[in-house]
Amino acid sequence: MAESPRDFDVVLYGATGFTGKLAAEYLLNKYGVDGGLRWAMAGRSLGKLEQVRDELQNGNIPLLTADSDEDASLKAMAEKAKVICTTVGPYALYGSKLVAACASTGTHYCDLTGETQWMRRMIDAHQADAEASGARIVHTCGFDSIPSDLGVLFLQNAMQAKHGVPAQHVKYRVVEAKGEFSGGTVASLINVMEEAVKDKSLRKLLMDPYALNPEGSPTGDDVNDQTGAIYDEDFERWTLPFVMAAINTRVVRRSNALLDQQYGDDFRYDEAMLGPKGMGALKAKIAAGAMTAGTAALAIGPLRAIAKRFLPKPGEGPSQEVRENGFYEILLHGIHPTDRDKDMVAKVTGDMDPGYGSTSKMLAESAVCLAKDELSCGGGFWTPASAMGEVLIARLEKDAGLTFDIVSGN
Ligand SMILES: NC(=O)c1ccc[n+]([C@@H]2O[C@H](COP(=O)([O-])OP(=O)(O)OC[C@H]3O[C@@H](n4cnc5c(N)ncnc54)[C@H](OP(=O)(O)O)[C@@H]3O)[C@@H](O)[C@H]2O)c1
Repeated sequence: MAESPRDFDVVLYGATGFTGKLAAEYLLNKYGVDGGLRWAMAGRSLGKLEQVRDELQNGNIPLLTADSDEDASLKAMAEKAKVICTTVGPYALYGSKLVAACASTGTHYCDLTGETQWMRRMIDAHQADAEASGARIVHTCGFDSIPSDLGVLFLQNAMQAKHGVPAQHVKYRVVEAKGEFSGGTVASLINVMEEAVKDKSLRKLLMDPYALNPEGSPTGDDVNDQTGAIYDEDFERWTLPFVMAAINTRVVRRSNALLDQQYGDDFRYDEAMLGPKGMGALKAKIAAGAMTAGTAALAIGPLRAIAKRFLPKPGEGPSQEVRENGFYEILLHGIHPTDRDKDMVAKVTGDMDPGYGSTSKMLAESAVCLAKDELSCGGGFWTPASAMGEVLIARLEKDAGLTFDIVSGN
């Protein structure tokens, strides 16, 4: 479909929320309002948008209103934008009509969802429309799942360049991640749990390591995510379950399928957190048990209700000090298929807290990348690696405080 002229390169929907405001602040500081990027803030309440604009001290930022439940207002907003960048979540509650509007109007789209069940529903419902309209739809453009998805791509490209083969197995290990949850994220986690408690087929989907793979694509030997403590010989440390693995691993495996099995048909991928140096078996097992029990507790209605009372409410999140003092460091160990002396290790770091400071920058740069960069993919549901790949890595390194390096085997 020929591209129609659009008023804006990027419309940031949800600019009144916690993460949306951070993304707006980043876009303003980085791109201004009268420069090369034409962008607008959008939300359901004009009054609240005006308040955010006042806080940002720039009366020139254009404002648009649309309610997540009104098809006509969403379509009108989508038709004005090259890219809709949305932080309106939980996405399973408030995001479906917007995806439909973007897929049908040929509007590119990125978000911060980590809701696997919802992504599956959106792919199945709108892939054909997105292919026909040319809309590139990219979920998971925050801490889940950009460091995982682009980290694996980066490591595999280095492995190919050096040894002519992809790593057969990549282990993603969180060395450190300092930050806190926001109310919107808590609401999303609880909503997944509420849906799963009611629906057996959904529980089955969430347990499927290839839950996001295209229908009929090859699957490898990956099994379920780590739930206990496991000693990792390559890192010489105990490892613990990582809460985001359930999302990130599905995204990385979908990337392999969308990249024509570039990582191999027998590619394996897993994620875990490294226990602190010196952590022994007993402490590791106790810590892993406590983490698993904490997640399992959310499946129990009354405990969920208590969690809702004490955890941050929608609109609330970590302070500026917490965000600025936050950071993360991740190691990805790639195992050479035949010669362990040729293993390679990549490191990915971020300069702010993973969930908000860094996430808002990753999301904003994903939107700008979709709007401005030459990308080879057509319309459809993509992952960060399969849609934007190395182009986005370059942007994130240049402007968003991320680093990608090969630290061993180079
Ligand atoms: N993947 C990651 O790494 C990551 C990191 C951070 C956040 N997230 C996700 O991002 C989402 C937002 O998080 P947050 O902490 O920013 O949440 P938040 O502060 O609660 O913000 C939610 C936004 O959605 C808007 N909204 C709610 N209902 C709406 C409706 N019916 N129509 C239009 N807009 C509506 C709110 O508008 P009002 O101001 O008018 O209420 C607000 O702008 C969550 O789903 C969270 O899980 C993901």
